[in-house]
Amino acid sequence: MGVTIYRRMLAYVKPYVPKMVLAVFFMVAVSGLQGAIAFLVKPALDDIFIKKNTSQLTWIPLVVLAVYILKGLCDFSQNYLMNGVGQRVIRDIREHLYRHMQSLSLAFYMRNPTGVLMSRVTNDVGMMQGAITDAATGLVKDVFSALALICVVFYRDWHLAFVALVFFPLAFWPIARFGRKLRRTSTQTQEITGGLSSHLHETFSGAKLVKAFGAEDYEVERFTVRNADLYKLSMKVVKVQAMTAPLSEVFAGMGAAAVIFYGGYSVVNGHSSPGNFFSFMTALFMLYEPVKRLSRINNVIQQGIAAATRVFDVLDTQPDVPENADSPALPLISREIAFENVDFRYLDSGEYTLNDICINVPVGTMVAVVGSSGAGKSTLVDLIPRFYDPNNGCIRIDGTDIRNVSVTSLRDQIGIVSQHTILFNDTIRYNIAYGMKDASHDEIEEAARKANAHAFITRFPEGYETSVGEQGMKLSGGERQRVAIARALLKNAPILILDEATSALDTESEAVVQEALDTLMQGRTTFVIAHRLSTVRNADIILVVEDGRIVERGTHQELLAGDTRYRLFHLKQFEERKTEGKGPVANGSPTG
Ligand SMILES: Nc1ncnc2c1ncn2[C@@H]1O[C@H](COP(=O)(O)OP(=O)(O)OP(=O)(O)O)[C@@H](O)[C@H]1O
Ligand SMILES: [Mg+2]
Repeated sequence: MGVTIYRRMLAYVKPYVPKMVLAVFFMVAVSGLQGAIAFLVKPALDDIFIKKNTSQLTWIPLVVLAVYILKGLCDFSQNYLMNGVGQRVIRDIREHLYRHMQSLSLAFYMRNPTGVLMSRVTNDVGMMQGAITDAATGLVKDVFSALALICVVFYRDWHLAFVALVFFPLAFWPIARFGRKLRRTSTQTQEITGGLSSHLHETFSGAKLVKAFGAEDYEVERFTVRNADLYKLSMKVVKVQAMTAPLSEVFAGMGAAAVIFYGGYSVVNGHSSPGNFFSFMTALFMLYEPVKRLSRINNVIQQGIAAATRVFDVLDTQPDVPENADSPALPLISREIAFENVDFRYLDSGEYTLNDICINVPVGTMVAVVGSSGAGKSTLVDLIPRFYDPNNGCIRIDGTDIRNVSVTSLRDQIGIVSQHTILFNDTIRYNIAYGMKDASHDEIEEAARKANAHAFITRFPEGYETSVGEQGMKLSGGERQRVAIARALLKNAPILILDEATSALDTESEAVVQEALDTLMQGRTTFVIAHRLSTVRNADIILVVEDGRIVERGTHQELLAGDTRYRLFHLKQFEERKTEGKGPVANGSPTG
């Protein structure tokens, strides 16, 4: 499995192969020069120190200096090139990942905590870099260095070389063994880190809730548990990592001891020169460094593969709302929106949230959806822009199943004010014009005026450039809602969905905004969800939804005339208004 994942990671390197080849060239040069350094120990020692040859005294140090300078230059070049490739690859993967995540459906974001998704894009992708650059550097530079040094070792004394190399595989053993362990731990670590980020995200953005319920200590406790879990796992990694190098070193040391014994014996007996032996020893010691690095590289690769597995999992996730690349655009709505026997449930098992919904909405009419909380009203309208797809049945616009047109062209025709206002941490202007790059200031202001928002916006010292804070927290609930309404007004789409769009407004602002909405709704196909029946009264058709079914339908007058739930709702709201001392419902005269 690791191999397949690694190969897939390498696919991202493809565009940068020329740079990589150049880097490899410099790496091989570095390796060769490293061998040369070990090689030069013999003439240095035997000619200068033992034979006391003065002519060699000048040129050998010069050659050594030249070798080091050249090695430095090559090392810089390979490092710069290689890491440049790594950074580019990471940039590409990150962009690919984010692009893919943006193409995924709402359900994906419901399933995965924000913190976990964030750590996919930041931590995991970062860890993949190590697996690419460190691995490439290691596999080329360290492997070639090792080869060059092994050549020197064998050239100097092949008997001794065999003795030494018996111990080298032993030095590799802990590395292979611990690598696998690390990969497992790394997966768990990432999961816990994701949970931790989610916790931070939630408790920081929900600071008000935490404070209101005096839950600070509770949150600290929850955090402490997670933090302790992370500590325990990190310590496992620390232990394994700390053990790998010393264990390898001990085995290597055993090799060195054996070599000193056998090599010293040959020099003492005159079979070998001290220069020969020290050149051999230098190469052997220098050999240890690349081997040690190779051991770390293995760990880095294992962690990178674990991270890549998680990243590719996201990349392999298919949108729950699939779209054909060649789906045609939806023509401008001209006849109707129809729900045909639509069933829908959020989970693949469990109860249906919507059952057998059949509606036919002629273009330009207004449909009101009423019913108790949790009945399925928001769910019903969420199916129109394809936030979710029905499990059975279909939704057609002018006879075309909305699954057969491009999602963008569908959503382009829909303006939405959703029940939970979503604003981004930017200026009011940005939030009103979100997704509409070409909107002029006049258009934005016009929309804000209609939404009864212009007055409060201009009261801020910075006006339209006022920052709304994270999730619009610096605005009041009613102000946020008016910004959202202005956004929908500006979009000026033929289909409108207003889900409790004015619920947070006081009666006075509501009346003003409602007026604007009434004007806006003219000639548009509108779905209105409202608890306040005063808003609903003028609808061409009212649907009463209970437990995911449409139980009643008709106009205000028709529904009031019969013995209906709608009539009960209506009477109840009328009673409430009266006891609150507000007098009769402004625009409803109960007839019962
Ligand atoms: N993302 C979701 N995942 C799973 N279940 C959900 C999800 N959203 C809503 N539900 C469930 O579906 C049912 C219908 O929810 P919906 O939001 O459509 O109700 P509603 O009629 O709009 O209620 P309200 O008037 O309170 O807004 C509820 O029982 C709710 O718990
Ligand atoms: Mg709702």
